[in-house]
Amino acid sequence: MIEVDEDLVFKIAQDTLQGNDSGAWTIPSKKLYPHQWLWDSCFTAIGLRHLDPKRAATELRSLLRGQWDNGMIPHMIFSPQKWKIDDSRIWQSHKISGSPTNVRTSGITQPPLMAEATSRVAEMLDGVERKKFLMEMVPAIIRYHQWLYWNRDPKGTGLALLLHPWETGLDNSPSWMSELRKIHTPFWIKVVDLMRVDRLISLFRRDIKTVPSDQRMKTSDLLRLHHAQQDLRRHDYEMQRVFTNTHRHFMVESLSFNSILMRNNEILVDLANQVDIEVPKWLLGRFKKAKESLQQLCNPVTGICYHRNYDEQVIEEVPTISILLPLYSGVITQHQAQQLVNLMTNENIYWLPYPVPSVPKTAEYFDEKRYWQGPTWLNTNWLIVDGLRRYGFQKEADHIVEQSLKLVESSGSKEYFSPISGEGLGADNFSWTAALALDFLKNK
Ligand code: GLC
Repeated sequence: MIEVDEDLVFKIAQDTLQGNDSGAWTIPSKKLYPHQWLWDSCFTAIGLRHLDPKRAATELRSLLRGQWDNGMIPHMIFSPQKWKIDDSRIWQSHKISGSPTNVRTSGITQPPLMAEATSRVAEMLDGVERKKFLMEMVPAIIRYHQWLYWNRDPKGTGLALLLHPWETGLDNSPSWMSELRKIHTPFWIKVVDLMRVDRLISLFRRDIKTVPSDQRMKTSDLLRLHHAQQDLRRHDYEMQRVFTNTHRHFMVESLSFNSILMRNNEILVDLANQVDIEVPKWLLGRFKKAKESLQQLCNPVTGICYHRNYDEQVIEEVPTISILLPLYSGVITQHQAQQLVNLMTNENIYWLPYPVPSVPKTAEYFDEKRYWQGPTWLNTNWLIVDGLRRYGFQKEADHIVEQSLKLVESSGSKEYFSPISGEGLGADNFSWTAALALDFLKNK
């Protein structure tokens, strides 16, 4: 058992969450992320429920401000900022019919963790409050999952199709960057690369004014992400319209997103039962189909699953943190879970001093400090721990929890950490790190 100063971790977490509270929702971090993000608020609510369950419920209700008429919950809801360039301008969401009128949002989504967060918060509310909260949240989450299956599952396989790496939440994960390099490298980005003028462009990057550039993504990768976003905007963020493109666009069946979706489908059904709300039959059919379809992404010998490139229908065997997330889905077999645990606990690959790195150490693109290209993040640790516990791997789960708490104890509530030295990296006072450290403390 590793000794952790629990009072210190609690204090760090509490201070961070209080400092980032903007009333009805929590911003991820002051300087770098001043808006509301979908999966950030879900993780935040999971931790915040231990401090103030009612405020945690408000965190999730706030996400409904951004829901589109078609049911989509966007990945960002913008906060107006005085005296600053309007961050929402690149999305122009207000020009699209069915977008909310009171707030500006992005036009894409993020991992669907709302059912999980709602259920965790509901557990802490008393009877009347709980019912009221669930009656508000459950219909909205059903509409959201309906949107995912109506709009993002063109073949009816139960696997959602993503149109932008930001939808996975793992922005510059190597799997996405190799896809983007193939598809979203127009002439002008090639020129930037060739003439090595990215230093010049970097002068305009806000993120590297607060965080060292070797901890953020490369400028040309960021430009590709923006290129893909602008392409989507031209098609009003509609999958059917993107399909009519004469040129190719980023389209993947992401393993991590779909693993999260499957677990949340299950929780959603349970929540709906609790308040006697019916989940449409066709939707339940997709939930079932999804579980079978996940196996199509898996290698029958190694049991390991990967993402699929939708255009080419090719399974890309690029190992990242995503390949461990089927543990969270709960739909792989016990044997597959064991195969994943064997891989995860290999000390040369994933089981580094502070596990679990976002990219295995053996991968050529592993970069200890760079964003989703190597560092350890507490949110993916939380998902893995939750899955490990349900499959009965308590020892491994405990180790990840203890090392995660050690990270916060020694480096504070940083955005991410070196899996080798434990050095804190990225933004300071990051909300989901604080919230999930609290949840780890309470459920040690
Ligand atoms: C970064 C992360 C994303 C997160 C956002 C706000 O873009 O990659 O997952 O939601 O920051 O914290």
